[in-house]
Amino acid sequence: MRAKGLSRAEVLARLKQAHEKDEKYADGKIFCSMCTTPHPAAKEAHELFCDANLGDPGLFSGSVQLEKEAVSSLAELLHGKSSFGFIVSGGTEANLLAMLAARNHAGVKEPEVILPESAHFSFNKICSLLKLKPVPAHLDEAFRGSPSHVKQLINKNTVAIVATAGSAELGAVDPIDRLSQIAVKHGVYLHVDAAFGGLVLPFLKELGYVAPEFDFQLEGVQSVTVDPHKMGMSTIPAGGILFRDSTYLECIKTQTPYLTEDSQYTFVGTRSGASVAAAWAVFESLGREGFQKTVHHCMELTTFLSSKLEALGFEVLLRPTLNIVAFRSANSKLLTDKLRVRGWFVSYVPRLDCVRIVLMPHSTRQHVEALLECLKELR
Ligand SMILES: Cc1ncc(COP(=O)(O)O)c(C=O)c1O
Repeated sequence: MRAKGLSRAEVLARLKQAHEKDEKYADGKIFCSMCTTPHPAAKEAHELFCDANLGDPGLFSGSVQLEKEAVSSLAELLHGKSSFGFIVSGGTEANLLAMLAARNHAGVKEPEVILPESAHFSFNKICSLLKLKPVPAHLDEAFRGSPSHVKQLINKNTVAIVATAGSAELGAVDPIDRLSQIAVKHGVYLHVDAAFGGLVLPFLKELGYVAPEFDFQLEGVQSVTVDPHKMGMSTIPAGGILFRDSTYLECIKTQTPYLTEDSQYTFVGTRSGASVAAAWAVFESLGREGFQKTVHHCMELTTFLSSKLEALGFEVLLRPTLNIVAFRSANSKLLTDKLRVRGWFVSYVPRLDCVRIVLMPHSTRQHVEALLECLKELR
């Protein structure tokens, strides 16, 4: 650390210099991210609540109230009549809390979790941390977890089945209705990772798209991850975990002897009230109508891009359910690298040897058309 501090102006100038180097969503070159430009209301809320610590809730009753309301908005959207939960640091922490609840509730000696290959890599970290044995389940031809294989894998050590509503790589939604039936029949905890899809799927039906069921309407679903910092256009970090009801809360509770309340339920101790306020502000500013418009925008771009890619002769892997397009060229890795040289950020998915493009709220028709022009040259 420097011996003497800089002036405020100098600090700001240095910050601006560093910020200049960051890519900007608004430039329209970022097609690989599941985060986006935060809604203006989220930014204001974040600044206003930047000192609020929900790890010590007795000091911040206003923030506590906002968290209750934000969680209740999510619960309503996901048909969770008696559900409750928390705004946490992201999808990883949300999934961690779900797995902790499932493991502790089951109380078996050698716990196993069934993870279709569509599951997010956060579950690898979580299994390692919680000493859970990951049991991989195959995918079907549409890259969705295979219910018949999941069924075969259940045994006395199975503490949870993980389903994904919007895989990070393809936006594929597992057949959660069938997985729910299996979970109910075998008395196994079913967690749905809708970190990305949880704020898209609830709006698809009204827009005329196919919208698979994925939430608490399905009897077997015990918890759902849904992240405000992805399609919720909130500031980072903001994940969401919702449990069907209070059954599992005791399983994730920790005593907090010296704080204003004697227990907490999240993994992170000092917890951002700013993120909660930001998520709340987006929900209140947009309402269902605003979210529907945003999802409509992203899905229109997705359909447009997908059809144009096919017309250009690329192999589109699957008809998109969510706002993600995956496609192959003769050499998808090389194509991704060439796009990068031209300033475009798309992902290469080695497991599927494909290019992945996420159409987020910051993308526009002009951005997509410019990307297509470049693809036309490079194909
Ligand atoms: C489906 C899914 N689950 C979990 C995560 C992890 O979320 P985070 O990066 O917020 O921890 C992601 C991130 O993209 C995701 O797409």
